[in-house]
Amino acid sequence: MMLESARRLMAPSARSDVPPFMVMDVMAAAARIEAAGGRVVHLEVGQPAAGAPAPAIAAARAALGSGPLGYTETLGIPSLRARIARYYSEKYAMAVAPERVIVTTGSSGGFILAFLAMFEPGERVAIASPGYPPYRHILHALGCEPVLIETTAATRWAITGESLRAEHRRRPLDGVLVASPANPTGTMMTPQALAELIAVAESEGIRVISDEIYHGLDYAVPDETALRIADSAVVINSFSKYFCMTGWRIGWMVAPEPLVRPIERLQQNLAISVPTLSQIAAEAAFEGRDELQAIKRGYEVNRRILIEGLPQAGLDAFLPADGAFYLYADISRFSNDSCDFAQRLLQEAYVAATPGVDFDPVNGNKFVRFCYAGSAADMREAVERIGGWLRRG
Ligand SMILES: Cc1ncc(COP(=O)(O)O)c(C=O)c1O
Repeated sequence: MMLESARRLMAPSARSDVPPFMVMDVMAAAARIEAAGGRVVHLEVGQPAAGAPAPAIAAARAALGSGPLGYTETLGIPSLRARIARYYSEKYAMAVAPERVIVTTGSSGGFILAFLAMFEPGERVAIASPGYPPYRHILHALGCEPVLIETTAATRWAITGESLRAEHRRRPLDGVLVASPANPTGTMMTPQALAELIAVAESEGIRVISDEIYHGLDYAVPDETALRIADSAVVINSFSKYFCMTGWRIGWMVAPEPLVRPIERLQQNLAISVPTLSQIAAEAAFEGRDELQAIKRGYEVNRRILIEGLPQAGLDAFLPADGAFYLYADISRFSNDSCDFAQRLLQEAYVAATPGVDFDPVNGNKFVRFCYAGSAADMREAVERIGGWLRRG
């Protein structure tokens, strides 16, 4: 029998007590249906159906045959940092010094580095609700306090200067994280709304982090980088979404010059360097822009199919699907329990979607998230199955 003192030695820390990501449970249930021979239409996972662009694959193949893949410089291969800097002049017509670009293990790695470099334990960081769950879970694990600010249709589901200032007056904030396009809502801030929010943050001494992982996937409102608005902003980005390289685990951040060396020291200790093969492939991915633009046009077709088809199927209330590849649909006419709704939709209609409670502990039970990064045929089939299922009641 184990001694109580020995059992205590195996107890996890309080900071590791973060909730699971429920979409993973949906994926597991879908896999069970598929193992039994059912065909599930997947609209749950937030990743492109397509793989990395051809130049990225070719560069990775060549690198595998050309000698050992050693560590790289901690901040990233210099030519990749320079290529990312050049992307800012191509896409946003603005200059970014390569010295400010830091290559990371996906944007997920970037968040850990940014939060560690910017905040002390106990500091308060505002994030929008609904929002991407790991923001609050990573902050919690690092000993910071995530502060959820509820958003509404009136502000295009984004934190505004006004709501930020109101929370700051209630209890001072140290940071704010913005995301446009956002997950799970797919909504975007207009460039003016982003500029207004950043102006308030800067005037109140609140640090800004901008998650720009869905940039490049904008359909209704142009995507604006926080870098153009404030030199003090930390921008996080990734090759996962627009560049279709989720599994390569590669992203980047652009930090103000005084934060670069502290982030370098952190990454030296936490990771040494980012996977070399992925860095080589990422640099070549910029040469696959035609392929990537064609994939984006496919998302636009899918988005139209859902925007036009879902109301006919019975889901006629959803947030403006401005960008990324998400549509966040109000299901409150049918259920006040989005987990149960998503589970029944999967078990009875074989359509996998993500319950809103994953993203919003307060109002998430009224919503499910559909990801339209798959094929047009899947979108049409999903609309048909959802319609038939809702009509059957
Ligand atoms: C809003 C947002 N930020 C960050 C990430 C993390 O992506 P990665 O670590 O693959 O760059 C995701 C993944 O779904 C996301 O939706």
